[in-house]
Amino acid sequence: MKRVVKIILYGLGILILVLLMAALFFSSKFNREFEKVITFEPVEVIIPQDSVSIERGRILSVDCRSCHGPDLAGKVFFDDPTIGTLPSSNLTRAKGSETEHYTNQDFVKAIRHGLNKAGNRLMVMPCKSTSQISDKDLGCLIAFINTLPKVENTFPKRKFAFTAQIMAGAGLFGDLFHYDLIDHEITNNIKHIPEGSTEEYGHYLTSIHGCNDCHKKDLKGGKSPDPVSPPVPDISRTGNFGKWTQEQFISVFRTGKTPEGKILDGNFMPFAGLGAHSDEEIAAVYNYIKNKKD
Ligand code: HEC
Ligand code: HEC
Repeated sequence: MKRVVKIILYGLGILILVLLMAALFFSSKFNREFEKVITFEPVEVIIPQDSVSIERGRILSVDCRSCHGPDLAGKVFFDDPTIGTLPSSNLTRAKGSETEHYTNQDFVKAIRHGLNKAGNRLMVMPCKSTSQISDKDLGCLIAFINTLPKVENTFPKRKFAFTAQIMAGAGLFGDLFHYDLIDHEITNNIKHIPEGSTEEYGHYLTSIHGCNDCHKKDLKGGKSPDPVSPPVPDISRTGNFGKWTQEQFISVFRTGKTPEGKILDGNFMPFAGLGAHSDEEIAAVYNYIKNKKD
């Protein structure tokens, strides 16, 4: 009997040791990735100064507010002892903020390439979509950021709890860094598409606003990248969209309510970003989806 107990105890001891080693392996793998610094010089983008461009930048910035706050002075994205802390940075260049010493080209590096000033890869920030913004629009967006009043709002640095480090290291949170998903050559050559109701422009808006990131490439929906989000519906012709008129589609983004009476949760379906555009531009997205080949 004594021998059996001894064997069980040895077995348990070995199991605990293996689990501990696996935990240490995954957490240190995550920490190496988390702290990795990438040297990268973005191709320069021209920043306009005129009021029309700044207004265009303001419209494009509405999408950023769901995470960076209404004044773009940042907010806590998550802060939980079991997961860790991640602030959505203060973009106003205020004293003590993440962007205090940002140049215009540092903004290009972050928005287009997914790296902060120091060269760390950004997390959660949807750079796969924002990397699709054309040179002209990116210039407008940064021109608008340059007009923001400095709001002093400081946050603790991003940090992951040990359990979350292990899970992230084991790949349970999926793709952590959009930098790795971006084709950094192509992003320097994105063609400017004139604003209007064309399908081509509608395709551009769905790319920069990340509709295809959440609703998937075929727009037929599925699981959201956000684990606490409701399921992402089919917004192609085979979904409710197929029954909607152009006016009804535009109204979804103006009101956050669908023709079926569903109130969309802005935390999970950021309708205000597209809603900031003109009726004609939202109609472009309607035309794009309506004529999209499967
Ligand atoms: C889904 C939420 C989300 C959206 C939408 C979003 N961001 Fe971010 N952004 C973040 C988070 C979170 C960080 C910090 C990431 C980190 O430190 O790893 C960040 C970081 C940044 C940074 C780098 C600042 C630093 O810490 O050095 C810039 C610049 C930035 N965002 C600009 C924008 C702009 C411009 C838009 C809109 C076009 C935008 N973001 C949209 C979540 C978001
Ligand atoms: C961050 C993920 C995310 C992004 C980005 C996103 N959506 Fe959604 N969308 C959702 C989720 C989740 C729902 C369901 C919301 C709910 O149930 O409250 C939804 C719902 C919708 C609906 C309602 C569909 C129905 O039949 O009720 C439409 C239309 C829609 N999205 C269109 C778009 C378009 C167009 C874009 C790009 C401009 C977009 N979405 C970007 C996640 C997203």
